[in-house]
Amino acid sequence: MYSIELMIEEHKNILKLIEVIRNACCGILDGAEVNVEDFEKMIQFCRNYADKHHHGKEEVILFKKMTEKLGALAEKLINHGMLVEHDLGRLFISELETSLNQYRDNPKTIYKLGIIGGATGYANLLTRHIDKEDNAVYKFAEKQLTPEVLESVDELVRSFEKEAEEQSVQEKYLAILDELTKKYPSK
Ligand SMILES: [Fe+2]
Ligand SMILES: [Fe+2]
Repeated sequence: MYSIELMIEEHKNILKLIEVIRNACCGILDGAEVNVEDFEKMIQFCRNYADKHHHGKEEVILFKKMTEKLGALAEKLINHGMLVEHDLGRLFISELETSLNQYRDNPKTIYKLGIIGGATGYANLLTRHIDKEDNAVYKFAEKQLTPEVLESVDELVRSFEKEAEEQSVQEKYLAILDELTKKYPSK
C-alpha cells in the first residue's frame, strides 16, 4: 500500500538521522567540541521532517482513520501508545534545545550532559517507536482497515505529499540528512 510503504521509507530516513545523533554524541564523549550549528540542524530535521511531515501524516490521516474505524483496541494502541510517544519525543527535543542554548551561552560540562541526555533519549525512544509501527501498528492497519478506507488514506497522503513538495519539504530535509550523514558517518 502506497501510504504505508512511504511511511516505512520515511522511518529509514529518521533512523539515519538517529545514527547521526548517536555518532555526534559519541564524538562529544570522545572529547570533540559540541557543534551547536549541527545539533540545530538535527533538531530542525526532528521537528520538521520526523514530527511535522511524518508524524503529521500518522496523526492527521492514518491513526485518525484507525481510531475512527477499528474500535477500542486501536484507540488504546494509538491514543495511549503512539501519540504519547510522539509527545515524549517532542519533550526530548525541547530538552535537547534548552541544553544546547545553555551550552552556547556558557559551555559547561553539565550542559553537554543535557545535550547527550536529550539526544539519546530521543534516539532510543524513536528507535523503539519505529520498530512497533513497522512490525505491529502498520500491519494491523493494513489488515483491519477496509480497502475503501485504505484507498481514502492513500488519497489523503498523496495530497499531503503534494503540498509538502510544493514547499520543498522533502528536498530540504533530505539534503540536511545527507550533509549530516557524511559529516557523522557510522563507526
Ligand atoms: Fe509514530
Ligand atoms: Fe512513524
